Amino acid sequence: PRIVVLISGTGSNLQALIDAIANGTLKADIPVVISNRPNVFGLERAANAGIASKVLALKPYTNAGKTRTEYDSDLARLIVDAKPDLVVLAGFMHILSPTFLNQFPTTPIINLHPALPGQFDGARAIERAFEAYQRGEIKHTGVMVHRVIQEVDGGEPLVVREVEIKPEDDLAALQARIHAVEHVILVEATNKVLSEIASV
Ligand code: GRF
Repeated sequence: PRIVVLISGTGSNLQALIDAIANGTLKADIPVVISNRPNVFGLERAANAGIASKVLALKPYTNAGKTRTEYDSDLARLIVDAKPDLVVLAGFMHILSPTFLNQFPTTPIINLHPALPGQFDGARAIERAFEAYQRGEIKHTGVMVHRVIQEVDGGEPLVVREVEIKPEDDLAALQARIHAVEHVILVEATNKVLSEIASV
């Protein structure tokens, strides 16, 4: 199966997928990695793995007075051209519009989000969980991979994992603990969706 991976930054979750393919725990190919930001380390990870990559940044569109909808339809075309069986948003920091999602009526799109369902949707989820913990509002946080629908981070969870927060944690310690869990559940969720596709 062909997995197109979308990134925006470091690409540690992309790396988890690359490593899982290399060690046989994920039976798939990644024909292309697409980033919405240039010069991010995730692009180096793709290159090091011999995976083609493309950058489609939003800025040139806004600078040219173009709309996000035009951006999203161009992004969708890039992905469609790669003929994916599955699209994985791995640390992809861009909200996809109905224009984009309408291009993929049957192709599953999944997203990694470093929080529990319904908690801390959107950006800076880990920081917001850490602050909520310090205010005594939560005892732990978590990570999930969910199906992508129009509502941001609102799709059906595929894999959810709780992550403890320790009193001695600083933000970096919590982020490291969360990222380690991300790398595991992203591979689990990808395998889960691929097995669903295979069984159709
Ligand atoms: C992850 O928490 C991801 O969910 C968020 O950025 C963090 C690192 O992602 N969007 P990656 O290292 O670029 O995969």
